[in-house]
Amino acid sequence: MLDSADPVELSRRFAGPITAVELPGLSGVAGLCAETRFDPGAYDDQLYQTLQVTFPRSLARAVPRRRAEFLAGRYLAGTLLRRLGSVQTTVGMGQQRQPLWPEGFTGSITHDAGRAICTVAPAPAILGIDYEPVLPRGQCAEVLAAITAGGEAGQLTRVFGDPALGTTVLFSAKESLFKALYPLARDYFEFTDVGLATAYPSKGLLQLEALRDLSAIVHRGQVFRLGFRRHGGGILTWLVDGAESRPAG
Ligand SMILES: CC(C)(COP(=O)(O)OP(=O)(O)OC[C@H]1O[C@@H](n2cnc3c(N)ncnc32)[C@H](O)[C@@H]1OP(=O)(O)O)[C@@H](O)C(=O)NCCC(=O)NCCS
Repeated sequence: MLDSADPVELSRRFAGPITAVELPGLSGVAGLCAETRFDPGAYDDQLYQTLQVTFPRSLARAVPRRRAEFLAGRYLAGTLLRRLGSVQTTVGMGQQRQPLWPEGFTGSITHDAGRAICTVAPAPAILGIDYEPVLPRGQCAEVLAAITAGGEAGQLTRVFGDPALGTTVLFSAKESLFKALYPLARDYFEFTDVGLATAYPSKGLLQLEALRDLSAIVHRGQVFRLGFRRHGGGILTWLVDGAESRPAG
């Protein structure tokens, strides 16, 4: 039987190897992206100490599954920061849940039942990443109604054909954009504040457009380029710095 105090065995059971994830454009900002699979069932509070992750007070009442995903994301973030030469490898959590990266770095984290993915780069890169399992067909109409405005839904169906794929990509891309912009904009915005401008499924590219001023530095009409591809049975979307994706100001 496993000795529950054996930290090496506990961490081996919890997290698998860290593998590189390729994101187009990331090398241009000297960034890294990686993922790890983790087993929420093998979670133990002492893993925070073993994996050198600070346990945030805001998780004091969180269920083990939430503690586990937070740990997996921060473990990855700390590893990538170390690889990029950061002396500080702790990533705090802001009031709106945004990761607080060490001075001189920025990044983004996503997780979903047993998978964590993180991207980090030296500042002033702008990064957002999101992973979503493909939505069941039966949920697409409801999700589309919540995240789209105007003719977006029709455009999505025309461009993607498969509504489950199109809806998942759009939902995830909007989450990636939100994660990338929130640290700059410091303001919440709704899914319907951003619209689909263009999408090129064969190239794994789409553009989202701000439909209103999202903050003092993100203006109406500004266009953001995002990438997407199938990944691990779901959809991975990302925003990595790009000419049209950098907010003015
Ligand atoms: C925050 C949000 C984007 C998280 O997405 P999710 O698909 O539920 O979960 P994911 O696992 O992909 O991402 C969670 C990670 O996002 C990051 N995140 C959370 N809030 C964030 C914020 N305000 N800014 C940047 N990153 C944030 C965190 O790293 C979080 O993981 P952690 O709490 O373990 O550190 C989502 O829950 C949300 O609140 N969305 C509403 C806002 C929005 O998306 N508007 C649409 C604009 S078009």
